Amino acid sequence: MTSYKELGLVNTREMFAKAVAGGYAIPAFNFNTLEQMQAIVQAAVETKSPVIMQVSKGARNYANGTILRYMAQGAVEYAKELGCENPQIVLHLDHGDSFELCKECIDNGFSSVMIDGSHLPYEENIALTKKVVEYAHQFDVTVEAELGVLAGVEDEVSSEVSHYTKPEEVVDFSTRSGCDSLAISIGTSHGAYKFTPEQCTRDPKTGKLVPPPLAFDILQDIESRLPGFPIVLHGSSSVPQDEVDTINANGGKLPDAVGIPEEQLREASKSAVCKINIDSDSRLAMTAAIRKHFNEKPGDFDPRQYLKPARENMKKMYIHKIVEVLGSNDKL
Ligand code: G3H
Ligand code: 13P
Ligand code: ZN
Repeated sequence: MTSYKELGLVNTREMFAKAVAGGYAIPAFNFNTLEQMQAIVQAAVETKSPVIMQVSKGARNYANGTILRYMAQGAVEYAKELGCENPQIVLHLDHGDSFELCKECIDNGFSSVMIDGSHLPYEENIALTKKVVEYAHQFDVTVEAELGVLAGVEDEVSSEVSHYTKPEEVVDFSTRSGCDSLAISIGTSHGAYKFTPEQCTRDPKTGKLVPPPLAFDILQDIESRLPGFPIVLHGSSSVPQDEVDTINANGGKLPDAVGIPEEQLREASKSAVCKINIDSDSRLAMTAAIRKHFNEKPGDFDPRQYLKPARENMKKMYIHKIVEVLGSNDKL
């Protein structure tokens, strides 16, 4: 058993309480690679922001769970080396799909886990979440649950359609499951294609797709029933058009990619939404920089030559999210 406390990590409890009270949201950035980890830490330190580094089941399969755990420990030490005296870094399991996976992560240094029972019948979601909570709380590990279904791909789980969270269920669910935070469905979805062109309108001036707005009425209803309770938004990449354009101009093919407009995420951050998940925007920033580099410098073949601009571009994006969208800067 390795406690996250030995690794210098923190859980989400105090972080979320401060974020809800302060009207900002904590960035939850997925990572799979060294360059993502470095860029996340540099961005968090430079902006004095707490940060959640999250690992999906797919990331564990790709990079190895043990390596990712040591990378998170390395992230804490790296943040100190960069001058941050008291880094606030959470290592979080994203979309845990079983008690066993959550337990393995808790036993191996994670400070927070998500148990995603959103595809299960209501009572089974409560029972599974409760089981994880009972185990996690013995070690002061915090637990995120999910109620409502997001459209799109969630690791190995995918859904054609979304089912918005039913506000009338949230008090019963959070009380009986004992979860520390709740991911809800109000119109966000995973990936770089969050909406079909048919679901969008077109801006007559630019011809760009304009997605339907998030269901802020549902968010407000949930907030009024669970005052101060930490709410999480998954699928919150904004799919920046300039990155998509760079990818497409350099041999890529991402037609009609569309995300959540940043104004809406800015608005959500001021509410009880205190954790905002971003993965796809990091993938786009990395891919755009690498494609551009390959196009401009076809003779380069040392990975450091193209991974350096990729890391810089991700860092720029992370800083932008922290300062311009979530407002978690200057909180350390
Ligand atoms: O929720 C999905 C995250 O973007 C993780 O994606 O399962 O491909 O690592 P992944
Ligand atoms: P995006 O695909 O919008 O980045 O969402 C990531 C996410 O929710 C990870 O759990
Ligand atoms: Zn997610």
